Amino acid sequence: MKNIAILCSGGDVSGMNAALKRFVEYSFDKGLTPYFVERGFEGLIDNKIYKAGYSDVAGIISRGGTKIHTARSKRFLEQKYRKQALDNLKSHGIEYLIVLGGDGSFKGMQKLSDESEGLGFSGIPSTIDNDIAGTEYCLGVDTALNIIKYAIDSIRDTASSFGRAFVIEAMGRECGYLALVSALTSGAEMCLIPEIPYELDHYKKRFKKQIQEGREYFIAVVSEALKNSEHIAEWFEQEIEVESRIMVLGHIQRGGNPTVYDRLMAFKFITHAIDGLLEGDQSSVVCYNAGGFTRQKIENVAFKKYRINSELLKLGTEFNK
Ligand code: F6P
Repeated sequence: MKNIAILCSGGDVSGMNAALKRFVEYSFDKGLTPYFVERGFEGLIDNKIYKAGYSDVAGIISRGGTKIHTARSKRFLEQKYRKQALDNLKSHGIEYLIVLGGDGSFKGMQKLSDESEGLGFSGIPSTIDNDIAGTEYCLGVDTALNIIKYAIDSIRDTASSFGRAFVIEAMGRECGYLALVSALTSGAEMCLIPEIPYELDHYKKRFKKQIQEGREYFIAVVSEALKNSEHIAEWFEQEIEVESRIMVLGHIQRGGNPTVYDRLMAFKFITHAIDGLLEGDQSSVVCYNAGGFTRQKIENVAFKKYRINSELLKLGTEFNK
């Protein structure tokens, strides 16, 4: 029996637990012995590695976060700690490692792969930011978008009751994907993201006209990357003359009951990762594009810049007309 391990690294996402469940069950189906690594690369360094069984994953599919915890590891940037991590993997006889994380985690995985002798590594894009090159979907994004949708639907109730402008700040680090898709699907009047240049004067002209024509309240979705939520709220008060409030959605976007889509994607990502390792992939990332899965070399994913698809961007430019 070969041994296979899994870890979660960086920001947690809803769907990681569903992935852990599939990992344990599919490993057994394939004649592998599954291991969990606690707290990402930190646990790899500290030898927090243990055999996983059916009871470890019972009842977790509906829970957000990750049962095996996650971490951002500074120590992993140092070669001596990576060596310790590799020694720990070897001491457990582990031949394959699956990493759930974002591009930072994949850079770490690439280094480990370069320094290991013959171990197999597979990455599963997992970040609500949806900012990984080579894949149009990252685990957890659908759940995050649905949480934002519920939040904006609720905010709309109070925004309309009071006739206010709400500036809603979405996560995404440097990437405007969450804000853009949320603005498009929640009927927002304004969407500000780093990928699309905007002119507040255009908005002003349009909003003033709309107020004359009967618009009573505004929903603005802004990306955290722009760091301008307060400025936009003040702009609404001073230039549009509408009372405003700011709603920073924050970490609720990362948690909660995973959607059906994320549970299914978790299932598929893990299946492709394990199949790839068993077919001899040494170091790849499972990517999802145009409805299909491929396995890409880590360097083509971790070291390239993600770009939001042009059709979505085009729709986003309409906010600024
Ligand atoms: O990368 C996921 C993410 O949630 C980003 O959207 C956000 O900027 C960041 O992590 C927050 O990090 P932390 O959980 O360390 O506050």
